[in-house]
Amino acid sequence: MTKPRRVLITAALPYANNHPHLGHVAGVYLPADTYNRYLRLKGVETVFICGSDDHGVPVTISAQNENSTPEEVVSRYRGIQEKVFGSLGISFDHYSGTSTCEGHAELSQEFFSKILERGDIEEKVTQQFFCDPCQRFLPDRYVEGTCPHCGAEGARGDQCDACGKSYEQEELKDPECAVCKGTPQIVPTRHWFFRLDRYEERLEEWLKSCEGWRDNVRNFARGIVREGLPARSITRDLEWGVPVPLEEAKDKVLYVWFDAPIGYISFTREHFVNQGNPDGWKDWWVDPDVELVHFLGKDNIIFHAVIWPAMLMGQGEYHLPTSIPANEYLNFRGEKFSKSRGVGVTAEEILERFDADRVRYYLTAVAPEGKDTSFTWEDFIQHNNDELSDVVGNFAHRMLTFTAKNFDSRVPMNAADSQLREEILSVIREAREKWDDSLGRQKFRDALDRVLTLARHGNRLFDQAEPWKSRKEDLDRCGADLAALLEVVHAIGVLLSPFLPSTSEKMLSAFSLCAPEPPEALKSLGECEVLTAGGELSPPGIVYPRLELEEDQA
Ligand code: MF3
Ligand code: ZN
Repeated sequence: MTKPRRVLITAALPYANNHPHLGHVAGVYLPADTYNRYLRLKGVETVFICGSDDHGVPVTISAQNENSTPEEVVSRYRGIQEKVFGSLGISFDHYSGTSTCEGHAELSQEFFSKILERGDIEEKVTQQFFCDPCQRFLPDRYVEGTCPHCGAEGARGDQCDACGKSYEQEELKDPECAVCKGTPQIVPTRHWFFRLDRYEERLEEWLKSCEGWRDNVRNFARGIVREGLPARSITRDLEWGVPVPLEEAKDKVLYVWFDAPIGYISFTREHFVNQGNPDGWKDWWVDPDVELVHFLGKDNIIFHAVIWPAMLMGQGEYHLPTSIPANEYLNFRGEKFSKSRGVGVTAEEILERFDADRVRYYLTAVAPEGKDTSFTWEDFIQHNNDELSDVVGNFAHRMLTFTAKNFDSRVPMNAADSQLREEILSVIREAREKWDDSLGRQKFRDALDRVLTLARHGNRLFDQAEPWKSRKEDLDRCGADLAALLEVVHAIGVLLSPFLPSTSEKMLSAFSLCAPEPPEALKSLGECEVLTAGGELSPPGIVYPRLELEEDQA
């Protein structure tokens, strides 16, 4: 007997000091959710994990600026994140956080200790900025200055966001403490480094063997490995974080990018503990047949496709990622979304005005899969009107009201006698196969487009059949054509479900008395008629009224 397929899906853990913006939603959380729903629809067993990335400097700086504690900041933002994801219909099995998840710190320390035992972590004295007035070291975002490479201002301690280059702290020009604006000194301090160079060959081999990855992800990762991987510092002089499990490093913590991905494992474990199955998680991380799929934005590729796999190799007990669908960015009229700079709309704002499915629809239609894309209100309204209202909504509405009026809301008899039958079955089958192929390869735009094409085809066949004429001339033929066309409406409802869960539910509720449930329904789409002749149709629910562009959106 072949084993049932199992897929563990993760979405990059959002920092616990951010409102999720639509760029994040379009690039990470929505595709992950769509993929999860697609697999479940096919009867694949999945676990879908996410949570907040709580450690690191930005959270402590936010806490300091508002005179509160990191714990408080984390808990407030986690609430916001859960609310936004919930109202978008993003249905994680478990949403946790790295500072509260039971056992997360211990597991992170275990990773550190195991890799250290192997001799792949080494200790070095380094030169770091220290702020006298604040009496603290200034790692990462605690210090700002001018980039030694491109001259951009606002560069961080060891990396410049403008040119993407990294450097040693002492190279940064005009350094300033982010809190008191004082000029820091350079002070020696001991840190631990992950010897990534020792993993180069294994990473190269592994990346070569990975199949079905997006080219951008694989080529980028292979390029980085080929350039040579320097040892990376994985400890920080901070109080907020997972303590380094060494006597001589009592006041240091693990670097946030070391503990964050371990959250994928610790959250899975917590999920199974909550389910009353405390050992259940192991199988999902140990069994090499379980597929592990990480959804993320392009700035996270290096961490997930290079450093995290090296950590997993060093730890040795868990399997490696199966695929890493990373997206480019969705921008707002060409600029990066940013709540603090007031660019774009937050998820909360758009959800106050529009149904989640309208937002899901648009964000999938313009998903930044191969290149950066842009959100504009004009485009949002246009996609909603031209596609959701005029094609999907209109077709379902025409079909269901016509059947209600003329056939007493029942699936008419003899769909097989319709002259349109062969064409209808074959367009449904083709839509299902291409939809399946695209979703299987995480090409969401393409898969959604297949459903639209099917609906356009349905509208055309409805016009061609002219049921408003045949109703008077040949009622049997009219019924047969309608019954065959209802198969298209039903198929659209099924195929939309990973993308637009509540629209799909409403569409399918019309068929609840005359169609099989989804996993069954999906298999037979386009193979034969799936609707029960004579079966009752519930009143049609969905129609998407057209939208107008409001003044503040122009
Ligand atoms: N917090 C990171 C970001 O938003 C993503 C962390 S993903 C994880 O860029 F793998 F580290 F968890
Ligand atoms: Zn200072």
